[in-house]
Amino acid sequence: MMRYFMLTAALALGILTSCTSAQNDSAMAQNETIENLKTRRSIRAYTEQMPPKELLEQVIEAGTYAPTGKGNQSPIIVAVTDKTMRDSLSRLNAAVMGMDSDPFYGAPAVLIVLADRKYPTYLYDGSLVMGNLLNAAHAVGLGSCWIHRAKEVFDSEEGKALLKSWGIEGDYEGIGNCIIGYPAQEAPAPKPRKPDYVHFIE
Ligand SMILES: Cc1cc2nc3c(=O)[nH]c(=O)nc-3n(C[C@H](O)[C@H](O)[C@H](O)COP(=O)(O)O)c2cc1C
Repeated sequence: MMRYFMLTAALALGILTSCTSAQNDSAMAQNETIENLKTRRSIRAYTEQMPPKELLEQVIEAGTYAPTGKGNQSPIIVAVTDKTMRDSLSRLNAAVMGMDSDPFYGAPAVLIVLADRKYPTYLYDGSLVMGNLLNAAHAVGLGSCWIHRAKEVFDSEEGKALLKSWGIEGDYEGIGNCIIGYPAQEAPAPKPRKPDYVHFIE
């Protein structure tokens, strides 16, 4: 009787373990967050349609949950949807490159990430916020792209004047511009990952 009980228990445990491991396998195979991270691409053509504020707020909120050194939350996000301001920022950004094209690729909105230089990890913190914004945009069906030169723009006299006019005081460095909107292009295929990207030391 005891032998029979132990056999049944062992069988049940085996089935349970194999179910859990099958569930783990399938979770690994189709994890939605990981799929999102892998399928996000930089979008460089947008429709003029402004995403609803609630959608932008969702993306921005995800940005604010990025990890920061010592949890200091050194970055800030400035969400620009005003067309005149968006165009001025585009002009300032293009001027850094000595160009007059639109470096924002027609995107209707731009989420500027700046970070407070007084925190030693500000650059890492701000970059992680940018990453969260880009990935969150993709997760809600919006296109996005990191547009650089925020540092140069907000170190310039015009940039400093803008920060002042927005009521932002402190030693803020521009980390990046996350342009955002509805894509007007298919997401490009990613480049193959380089073979020596990863080193396992086992
Ligand atoms: C720090 C940084 C700066 C970037 N600056 C620009 C930029 O100014 N303009 C642009 O079109 N893309 C810019 N990108 C986007 C990259 O070109 C893009 O991420 C890269 O080509 C890989 O493509 P993917 O994002 O589709 O995977 C930047 C990306 C990073 C991380």
